[in-house]
Amino acid sequence: MSPPPRCAAVVVGAGPAGLAVVGNLLEKQLGTIVWVDPYFQGGRVNRKYREVPSNTKVALFQAFATAVQPFRSVINSTRIPNAFTTMAKLDQETTCHLHHAADVVRSLTDGIVKMDQVHAFRGHVTAANLDRTHSWTVRIQGADTPDDLEVMTSRLILCTGSSPAQTPMPVDADNVQRLDLDVVLKPSELASTLPQKAPTTVAVVGASHSAILALLNLHDLARSSHPHLRIKWFTRHPLRYAEYKDGWILRDNTGLKGRAADFARQQLEDSALPTSDAGRFITKVDCAGGQRKETAQYQKHLPSCTYLTQAIGYIRDPLPELSINGSLLPPDDFQWDSGFGGFTDRNGGPIPGLYGAGIAFPERVIDPYGNVEHAVGFFKFMKFLNRVSPQWAAMA
Ligand SMILES: Cc1cc2nc3c(=O)[nH]c(=O)nc-3n(C[C@H](O)[C@H](O)[C@H](O)COP(=O)(O)OP(=O)(O)OC[C@H]3O[C@@H](n4cnc5c(N)ncnc54)[C@H](O)[C@@H]3O)c2cc1C
Ligand SMILES: NC(=O)c1ccc[n+]([C@@H]2O[C@H](COP(=O)([O-])OP(=O)(O)OC[C@H]3O[C@@H](n4cnc5c(N)ncnc54)[C@H](OP(=O)(O)O)[C@@H]3O)[C@@H](O)[C@H]2O)c1
Repeated sequence: MSPPPRCAAVVVGAGPAGLAVVGNLLEKQLGTIVWVDPYFQGGRVNRKYREVPSNTKVALFQAFATAVQPFRSVINSTRIPNAFTTMAKLDQETTCHLHHAADVVRSLTDGIVKMDQVHAFRGHVTAANLDRTHSWTVRIQGADTPDDLEVMTSRLILCTGSSPAQTPMPVDADNVQRLDLDVVLKPSELASTLPQKAPTTVAVVGASHSAILALLNLHDLARSSHPHLRIKWFTRHPLRYAEYKDGWILRDNTGLKGRAADFARQQLEDSALPTSDAGRFITKVDCAGGQRKETAQYQKHLPSCTYLTQAIGYIRDPLPELSINGSLLPPDDFQWDSGFGGFTDRNGGPIPGLYGAGIAFPERVIDPYGNVEHAVGFFKFMKFLNRVSPQWAAMA
């Protein structure tokens, strides 16, 4: 079914952030919301990270799922047992595997798309133009329709997600095959991707959550089904952990937590690695000390590796082509400003009706010590939307 010609908001992306946006906007009863995604299956957490252990406690996924009235309505009308009752039975104060969180997002999505005020449309938003009346014309390439469609709205919210970053290596690594970080974070796929019988060395670059989970998964294989597997770990800074202070968390968004923190403390610290089980398979290559030292270390240790995985953060997925009065808005000409959850133009003025949320457009937060971080996580998205969405509702 085609979307209506005009609506209160177009939400792009149906990961946890897009879902949270739709939930918040529904509470405000603005009118029809057009929600666009190629799958409506919970975004990357479901598609790629079901086997990843969470770094947030179960209680925060529960808080996300019950934060807004439309979500509570879905939960109350979903036949038991379901993803919510399963999650409610888990220990709320510990972490869990992300398949639990993904199933909750999928169940909420299944319920929300059936609501009268929501028009869910399978496809991609490919472009959007803002006209002089502050109205966006949003172009959608439908997954099930041959022709593009257009919808007009005063609010366009980008929740388009991010994917693992990759950068060129400082040394020639042409003979080293790239190994997708998403595969390394999925043990079942990793096991069938790596050869079992041939000597294989995987280079892992990085020292944050993704890197430590990559080392953990590779170590699990080396000590079980892949005895010829070895790992070289290229890291340029010490392991950094989240620290629980009185009422707040130091390095809440960047420090290691949960299973990754336990593994790092017990097996990867310099004091542990030489005698730990992980140390039988993992060789640390210290890349600290500046670019020249880093390059020399890669020069020495990378060519002997079979595979290379970079776990160096995530970058925004490509955005729809945006224009104002028909003139293209190059990506460098607009800036994300989490202060109001929107975008500013090259003169610093807000771009009317253009907003964002999620891992691609996170809230900038400052801790009591003055450290700046980006708040990425289910409940963090919800807290952020609780603050900014009333302005989105009022401004258009
Ligand atoms: C490995 C990993 C583990 C994580 N673990 C946790 C955790 O334990 N706890 C926690 O709270 N957070 C965790 N996070 C952080 C965060 O919750 C997830 O990254 C989450 O998936 C971000 O949700 P999102 O909706 O912003 O993006 P995504 O899940 O990537 O969803 C974006 C959606 O937008 C769609 N899309 C993109 N472009 C378009 C377009 N043009 N038109 C239509 N649709 C489009 C995509 O198809 C996708 O469905 C983790 C992140 C990573 C990377
Ligand atoms: N559930 C989980 O356990 C889990 C797993 C993975 C990710 N996540 C979430 O996903 C988000 C992203 O996490 P992330 O761990 O992938 O990345 P991240 O927190 O963004 O950190 C990226 C790391 O890569 C390093 N880096 C960047 N460029 C590098 C380079 N060229 N060479 C070496 N190191 C480089 C950075 O180090 P410098 O500081 O030196 O630049 C930084 O430590 C976070 O919100 C995290 O909580 C969660």
